[in-house]
Amino acid sequence: MNQIETLVRKAEGEVNEASTLKALQEMQVRYLGRHGEFTALLRAIGGLPAEEKPAFGKALNEAKARLENIIEARRAALRKEDETRRHAAEPQDLTMPGRRMRAGLPHVLSQAADRIKAALIGLGFELIETPELELVKYNFTALNYPPDHPAMDDQDTFYVDDDHVMRTHTTPFQGRVFEERRPPFRIFTIGRCFRNEAVDRTHHHTFHQVDAFMVDEGVSMAHLRGTLGAFARAMFGPSVTVRFRPDYFPFVEPGVDFAISCPFCEGEGCVVCKRSGWIELGGAGMVHPDILENYDIDTDRYTGFAFGLGVERIPIMRYRIDDLRLFMENDLRFLEQFQA
Ligand code: PHE
Repeated sequence: MNQIETLVRKAEGEVNEASTLKALQEMQVRYLGRHGEFTALLRAIGGLPAEEKPAFGKALNEAKARLENIIEARRAALRKEDETRRHAAEPQDLTMPGRRMRAGLPHVLSQAADRIKAALIGLGFELIETPELELVKYNFTALNYPPDHPAMDDQDTFYVDDDHVMRTHTTPFQGRVFEERRPPFRIFTIGRCFRNEAVDRTHHHTFHQVDAFMVDEGVSMAHLRGTLGAFARAMFGPSVTVRFRPDYFPFVEPGVDFAISCPFCEGEGCVVCKRSGWIELGGAGMVHPDILENYDIDTDRYTGFAFGLGVERIPIMRYRIDDLRLFMENDLRFLEQFQA
């Protein structure tokens, strides 16, 4: 019994001296392991008189349990010290606010396109997509361009081969629609267009257009004006009015260019409208009867209007952007200014 007490005392002393987890582990093995000193005492039980065995065994077990508790407590304390030391070595300020995750946002042109889509869908137009690499047939021929029209010159157009161009406007979607559908329909498209331009602040080889057209019985210029007015008011506010002036496009007759009263000065004249009170947005007109006839549409019964405009124009005037190249450069310092 005395031996047990002495052993526990000695072990306790060593527990307190163990200054690392490793040292503690080693001393635990020395006392409580298979070849340890407690195990040796346990073996000694065999040589005791039978009546002393139970008391000795009990005392030994209790001493072991006590020692185990002391070792565990010391281990926890050493772990804590370790952690404190590690934290001190790499200081962290737990009160420092977290870093905000970087979230992307739609490109300023996508934002404009989304507003245009919402406005036209609201007017009952259906959105479709047609190819950017377009057949000459749809880009020019089917739209009534005479073979010697200056727009077809390769000075102005990217030809991929004799039959294919990068579309120079979105109007070629008309031919594709006419081949697949019969009136009545109201339909539009929006997307990239390409022209063989020397790039500078006001010219780019890549830009975006919207084109819409409607064919039905009794469609007139009045419907075109009404539709463009509703579209312009949805885009620019309730006080905007639309102005038509005669213009020429091979695929409309009559043809017009259309402008809106300046939404920034209400027509008074300002920097955005260059003091004119008007902002030119695009071209429009009645679908040329020759085109309808080419697609076997009865022109005694059906007429149609069409209009097209540039997408860049809208953020350019809204945000006073003065360099077209910014739209294609993907410079986040520019793009992050336009939170949807
Ligand atoms: N496609 C013409 C352009 O690029 C615009 C337009 C579309 C004109 C529809 C009339 C009708 O300028």
